[in-house]
Amino acid sequence: MPNTVLIGAQWGDEGKGKIIDVLTEKVDWVVRYQGGNNAGHTVEIGSKRYVLHLVPSGILHSGKKCVIGNGVVVDPVALVVELKQLCEQGLDPSGRFFVSDRAHIVFPYHKLQDEFSELQRSKNDQIGTTRRGIGPSYGDKASRFGLRMGDLLDPMFPSLLEARLQEKNRILSALGSAPLELAKVLVEYQEAARYLAPFIVDTIPLLNAAVRKGEKVLFEGAQGTMLDIDYGSYPFVTSSSATAGGACTGTGVPPNRIDHVIGVVKAYTTRVGEGPFPSELKDETGELLRKTGNEFGATTGRPRRCGWFDAVVARYSVMINGIDSWAVTKLDVLDPMETIRICVAYECDGKRVENVPANIRVLEKCRPVYEDFPGWLTSTKEATRFEDLPAQAQAYVARLSELTGVPVSILSVGPRRDSTMILRDLSGRKLE
Ligand code: IMP
Repeated sequence: MPNTVLIGAQWGDEGKGKIIDVLTEKVDWVVRYQGGNNAGHTVEIGSKRYVLHLVPSGILHSGKKCVIGNGVVVDPVALVVELKQLCEQGLDPSGRFFVSDRAHIVFPYHKLQDEFSELQRSKNDQIGTTRRGIGPSYGDKASRFGLRMGDLLDPMFPSLLEARLQEKNRILSALGSAPLELAKVLVEYQEAARYLAPFIVDTIPLLNAAVRKGEKVLFEGAQGTMLDIDYGSYPFVTSSSATAGGACTGTGVPPNRIDHVIGVVKAYTTRVGEGPFPSELKDETGELLRKTGNEFGATTGRPRRCGWFDAVVARYSVMINGIDSWAVTKLDVLDPMETIRICVAYECDGKRVENVPANIRVLEKCRPVYEDFPGWLTSTKEATRFEDLPAQAQAYVARLSELTGVPVSILSVGPRRDSTMILRDLSGRKLE
């Protein structure tokens, strides 16, 4: 398989974890490049279910190497919990898991700041963050006040943390919060540092050497295009570059080493948190999608908002990410639908809109223009080839591809590894 970036092309939760898990067999490395433990990938293997927040899901395949790149923000305490759980489940990360020494750290004050900034906003302005401190940690990175994973191992770490805590405690007190105790934070983070020390390295030469040797890399995007800090429905976004470009800035692997971009889309659309969502269904059809698709957040357990497939968003994603092929997930969730709709354009103030507008006040006013399809009303869960699908389901997938101008390379009809159909080689190359 070529070096591939896999991104979410909607608002996150597209089922990337499962597709990554299937593709991992064909690569040597799986690399996270942005976000933090706001992400949640659920992977089912046999009767076992794994929920991963920071560790790339490639870890579930013995012998595959995994990297948390420099573009990720890491909560070291949460990472230790995740690694210990994996060890208990019989998965040993030693010698095949690496964390960039340039990745920024999430501290307890980031989580408190996240909480407070949400509480300070009026109901309509709240982002609905995961409260994992992601935005404030990226904020400190941009304002050159952050600490990085390499600093955890530096003998200067206690004084570096002390300087940050002094400043942050001033902010927290002004917000009416009790100050954080240096000794307590230090003990917690130094304990995590001891556990993580063997994994923290300079991942940039490591990855570039692997690429030069011809080893194959899968870049695992978290969240999705519409949550990207630059391209998403700002300010209702996350704080990182969730689009394909983030794979380069978040790992140090240059753009000319990337061969293929896979966009992952659900056969419908979901969103967690606040913000505009033109094809949202606030009725019993939305409820049916939520129930059938078990649409509850892997990280926060929040019910996801559900709606029809939005081809305007998908086309925008194709343009920004350079998507070469689609992985379409959860087609089976549409099995009980009598009629299925695709949003092909928006209507705003009497005008047809074909692109995602930058201004969220405009996006909020956009109404979906739908194309309707007859449902297939039969189970697709056992299909193993495209030809096994009912004609209506084939037509639906074909139309989705036609409307976005991108072929479908992978189609998933259930959570299991074996309910995944590979429809075409990536970039015309053999997947093996
Ligand atoms: P934050 O990333 O916690 O700052 O949250 C910002 C927005 O991104 C909120 O709307 C979250 O619900 C959303 N978000 C963050 N991570 C994910 C994810 O992994 N899947 C879906 N939505 C996410």
